[in-house]
Amino acid sequence: MKILVIGSGGREHALVWKLAQSPHATQLWCAPGNAGIAPERLATNGAAVECINIGAEDLPKLLAFAQEKKTDLVVVGPDNPLALGIVDLFQQHGLKIWGVNQQAAQFESSKVFSQKFMEKYGIPTAAAGTFSEAGPAKAFCATLGGKCVVKADGLALGKGVLICTNQAEAEKAVGEIMVSKAFGAAGANVVIQEFLDGIEVSLHALCDGKTAKIFPTSQDHKRALDGDLGLNTGGMGTYSPTPFLNDAQLAGVAAKVLEPFMRGCVAEGIDYRGLLYPGVMLTKNGPKILEFNARFGDPETQVYLTRLENDLVELLDASASGTLAQHELKWSPLASVCVVMASGGYPGNYPKGKPILGLAEANALPHTKVFHAGTALKEGQIVTNGGRVLGVTALGADLKAAQAAAYAAVACIQFDGAHFRRDIAAKAL
Ligand code: AMP
Ligand code: GLY
Repeated sequence: MKILVIGSGGREHALVWKLAQSPHATQLWCAPGNAGIAPERLATNGAAVECINIGAEDLPKLLAFAQEKKTDLVVVGPDNPLALGIVDLFQQHGLKIWGVNQQAAQFESSKVFSQKFMEKYGIPTAAAGTFSEAGPAKAFCATLGGKCVVKADGLALGKGVLICTNQAEAEKAVGEIMVSKAFGAAGANVVIQEFLDGIEVSLHALCDGKTAKIFPTSQDHKRALDGDLGLNTGGMGTYSPTPFLNDAQLAGVAAKVLEPFMRGCVAEGIDYRGLLYPGVMLTKNGPKILEFNARFGDPETQVYLTRLENDLVELLDASASGTLAQHELKWSPLASVCVVMASGGYPGNYPKGKPILGLAEANALPHTKVFHAGTALKEGQIVTNGGRVLGVTALGADLKAAQAAAYAAVACIQFDGAHFRRDIAAKAL
């Protein structure tokens, strides 16, 4: 099969790496890809993966490329092209594409849509209100004593969520989003949720419109600094599985969330084929869904795909084709840990173009894979090219061993200003 992967981050490197191992993959492109994706080779024929210089949101050019190459499967990594309707567009042109369609992408592109859906179909979530005017929004915050989370409805580069501890902060947050329009049109409407205390975990389920297959648990580390301090980021590291939900508890959460989710989708005429990634808070009153994402997590993908034993081409093809019920997901019993190495300054401003040393040494360690996120090739040298630069991932017999292996690989790698957390997976040990 000729496969095109869309995106350029660590998630897409992990997708390409795993797809390339499939005997079905005969040719593989990534648009636009990064400096770690290009050196990947296909297991069947040793062919190189080709990075092509088309942005992940340039739908017309991506379509023209896929038509010219007659791709058999297109795999979409990031949320933006999904929200722009890339799946609908490619399907209209008779191309097989994996990812959610525009209607289903609303679970991520509109927090108001998601919140209303959860309430309608009885999916456990935070007590919440949705508002289109600042006055009633502020009044609702007051009913929560100001301890609340104010969320811009639309996509805001992961920044449209403001956590408030008192009414003054809540009124400021509503003002920033709805009046000052800090996130533009994304803030025309807001969801305000009660603040939930607990342990946050990531869930993933692969869906085909009828069937949803739950993955093992994982946990992200969203804050920039050790001890969950510092600013929110896209994710500084992940591990899988987490000890905070055992298999029976995971099955319980899946039943409470996935069953009503799929039933609701059918009732609303939403054909949900793709990945569902609920963010879950484990509270003393049970699990509560904070939000839905409609794509693989980054860096959750890095720990999941290093543990996945199935052929990913077959799984994504089955998800797109509606035949997932025929497949059983198989996972390595090993634990996986991914430590993100970021540019100095991230998630604020950071420099680019810093040479990265030690990648070969790190990759040569057993059960270790360095996934690239923000990297580029400049005059034959791999250099930094983004905030999150690398996802250094390792497997181990247990979390402790996987953590030690990941940090041993991190120790091999240097670039000017490199910044990473030293406590990924520590809270699980
Ligand atoms: P979201 O994009 O909605 O997942 O929000 C981003 C982050 O804000 C989440 O990963 C949580 O850490 C935090 N968060 C969101 N909603 C809540 C809530 N209701 N209570 C506590 N923390 C929350
Ligand atoms: N790991 C966070 C995200 O992908 O949104």
